[in-house]
Amino acid sequence: MAPFRNLPDATILTDRDALEPYRHDESHVLGTLPLAVVRPRGPAALKELVRLAKAEGFALVPRGAGTGKAGGCLPTGQRAVVVDFSAWPGEIQVSPQDLSLRAPASALLRDVKAAAAAQGFFYPPDPNSWESCALGGTLATNAGGPNACKYGMTRHWVLAVDALLEDGEIHRFGISSVKANAGPALGQLLIGSEGIFGFIVGATLRLTPLPREYTTLLLPVKHWQDLLDLPGRLCGAGYLPSAFEFFDPAVLAELRAHGPEEARRLPGEALAILEFDERGCTSEPFLEGLLDLLGPVAEGLEVASDERQRQGIWAVRRMTSAFLKERHPKKVSEDIVVPRSRLGEFFTGLERLGIPSVSYGHLGDGNLHVNLLAAGETEPALLERQLMDLFRLSMSLGGTLSGEHGIGLAKREAFLVLSDPGQIHALRALKQALDPCGIFNPGKVI
Ligand code: LAC
Ligand code: ZN
Repeated sequence: MAPFRNLPDATILTDRDALEPYRHDESHVLGTLPLAVVRPRGPAALKELVRLAKAEGFALVPRGAGTGKAGGCLPTGQRAVVVDFSAWPGEIQVSPQDLSLRAPASALLRDVKAAAAAQGFFYPPDPNSWESCALGGTLATNAGGPNACKYGMTRHWVLAVDALLEDGEIHRFGISSVKANAGPALGQLLIGSEGIFGFIVGATLRLTPLPREYTTLLLPVKHWQDLLDLPGRLCGAGYLPSAFEFFDPAVLAELRAHGPEEARRLPGEALAILEFDERGCTSEPFLEGLLDLLGPVAEGLEVASDERQRQGIWAVRRMTSAFLKERHPKKVSEDIVVPRSRLGEFFTGLERLGIPSVSYGHLGDGNLHVNLLAAGETEPALLERQLMDLFRLSMSLGGTLSGEHGIGLAKREAFLVLSDPGQIHALRALKQALDPCGIFNPGKVI
């Protein structure tokens, strides 16, 4: 407690019971107990924290709402202080003229999206935790979600970031325009950096007009294999879904047997949820063309006829991660990506490797949540091997080991082993240049 006594403008927690929850996020990894948790309420607190961290040799670990899935916000080692941004001040401000929105890191993503929508605008990033996660966490982890297959990820919607750097000051990178080309984009380096170069305290986000109509379909398929070339075929035919989600036969069977009421009636061997949000997507010609494409593979296709039905379809998708976790508390959920064109090869490869797993997720952009449900009962060395095999398979097909959750603690070892050494060298050189004292979230990513 002693070094924190004079910290201005902050709430400080040191009680063991209050610190314990900060060892967890929504990943399967466990952090160490931090020395303290600090909730800064202004720049003076951050400046003093940086000074103290350097002088006393402790690490600063950033935290939003703790909904991350890679352990990026968990303390490691014996001398870590969690910087919880939930009390960071600031208002959400929409600028229709600039087609942008400013918000503090503490804003909930739900409120950011709602503030944009209230003025007819759309902020597309939609990680599964969108109702509870903090904007700061989505920026630090470059969060994705179902809409990424049309709209891209968080980084594609950030115009400027305000970030705490190692001098203890907050700096702004970027402006309120999509055009800004005065040198390399340092703000983009901070997005998805998981706090290893500095901490993002606020951002200016890009908006687009809110979609006015949606076509949402439940697409049960007779044969699971038929689903795998559909994302590519749709795009080839000029249909770009704003979401293309899937459940493989095993996840569908779990949902059907043990899921909520709405899930029990789901037909098919495997299932996709497709959504379109462009102007005209509810028109006859659009739907006719689409159904011509989908008809041959479908088994009892359903089109949501109103918003209530649409929300019902999404509710089943949104609860999948929590549902599987409840049934298999020690499962390990992976987050690999393969290019859309290699989905068939990926699942063939997965079967050949004999990794016991079930998959669901974002088929539209090749981001697959491969879940090892028996991870808790698997011998650790074997589990490790299975995960490495999975990552190697994804990478051999031109994919990567994380599509949206990030590296954090959970995938750090694998990231170091599997990445191009040149990439690790460059990242470490950047870390040394931007954080020479190693105070910002050490032990994560690299
Ligand atoms: C999801 C989370 C796990 O898509 O990313 O459900
Ligand atoms: Zn996901």
